[in-house]
Amino acid sequence: MDPVRNPYAPGAGQRPPELAGREREVRQFEVVLERVARGRPERSTVLTGLRGVGKTVLLNTFRSMAIQRLWGTGKIEARPDQSIRRPMAAALHMALRELAPRHRAPERVEHVLGVLKAFAQAKTDDEKPSRNSKGGARWQPGIEVPAVRGRADSGDLEIDLMELFVDAASVATDLGVGIVLFIDEMQDVPTEDISALCAACHELSQIGGPLIVVGAGLPHLPAVLSASKSYSERLFRYTRIDRLSREAADYALSAPAHLEDVSFTPEALATLYEISDGYPFFVQAYGKVTWDLALHSPITAEDVTVAAPEAEEELAVGFFGSRYERATPAEREYMRAMAALGEEPVPTNEIAKSLGRRPSSLSPARDSLLKKGLVYSAERGLIAFTVPHFGHFLRSRPD
Ligand SMILES: Nc1ncnc2c1ncn2[C@@H]1O[C@H](COP(=O)(O)OP(=O)(O)OP(=O)(O)O)[C@@H](O)[C@H]1O
Ligand SMILES: [Mg+2]
Repeated sequence: MDPVRNPYAPGAGQRPPELAGREREVRQFEVVLERVARGRPERSTVLTGLRGVGKTVLLNTFRSMAIQRLWGTGKIEARPDQSIRRPMAAALHMALRELAPRHRAPERVEHVLGVLKAFAQAKTDDEKPSRNSKGGARWQPGIEVPAVRGRADSGDLEIDLMELFVDAASVATDLGVGIVLFIDEMQDVPTEDISALCAACHELSQIGGPLIVVGAGLPHLPAVLSASKSYSERLFRYTRIDRLSREAADYALSAPAHLEDVSFTPEALATLYEISDGYPFFVQAYGKVTWDLALHSPITAEDVTVAAPEAEEELAVGFFGSRYERATPAEREYMRAMAALGEEPVPTNEIAKSLGRRPSSLSPARDSLLKKGLVYSAERGLIAFTVPHFGHFLRSRPD
């Protein structure tokens, strides 16, 4: 079939041709926006799920929904070892810029932008003078108003975020809208910053300011949050994003094909579901190769079977291989031992036993795998892959 018309979109954060099976989450977020705009108490939302399950895509969908309601929005992607101060400042700057032209008192917006600038430039205790900063020149966040000193610039992120959020929210209140800040890969936010962020959200929820944080991250994110603040369970609404149901996966494949006058036989859809297991990334990946290799509509189960090895090879190089490449030999040994024990979360002491090692001697490998986001601790003493089918991939490729 014509590859130019191929509708499928395998890729990190790539908008799928049809957002399938997320009606409940979308409806829930509609209610959140509506409630916040009316000053009703509402919790911040956190989406969790495995790699490639569609968290980023859903965050972007939520963002479009907020923009459509004329809210201010901004987004960051957290990175390990990077404070969220500057990225948050940039995200909030973007949100305020969206609101500014509609505000009837430009000097009020300007004042908050000044506070934001001071926030962005605040010196923190742990800030080391970097080698390429010229003579300690202040970092310029690109905000074209003078910094307003004395608020949100103490250097203590918890206090600063609280003050900043309250001020920014008041700008949105004036307009009868709200602000949403999106944090992707939220499990990577440094521990101290997570705690500051929770505290700021907590404060805001008490005064009812229309600013919410929507996070997305790996399945252990709730554990990361509650380790930081015990009240986080009451602060966030956790939504687990999972693989698609058979019905939703069929729709994800059929609806975009239908627009191109192409259809699938029921057997083709059944085979695609079997090999993709309903994981959105796999649905797109197998759908794409099958489309390219099929000769005509309807696409049959045989077309799928012919395409599968090529799709698998692409996944082996891109989706799985690129991650495997990032692992050190010790980490690879650890993951191979995990894979040998099956696809489910496995007890860490079983891994040690199978490698004939003391559990403590494996901690460095496990910790660095956790930090790289390749594995997560499902519950105490258990470890699992963040990448669906990763165990299968490792078992099928002896080193
Ligand atoms: N609801 C959906 N219906 C169909 N396809 C989807 C859906 N959600 C996501 N996809 C597709 O799945 C792929 C992965 O989506 P996305 O990058 O959002 O996953 P993710 O959970 O953010 O993964 P990661 O943890 O690696 O960041 C993309 O190719 C996207 O087009
Ligand atoms: Mg993502």
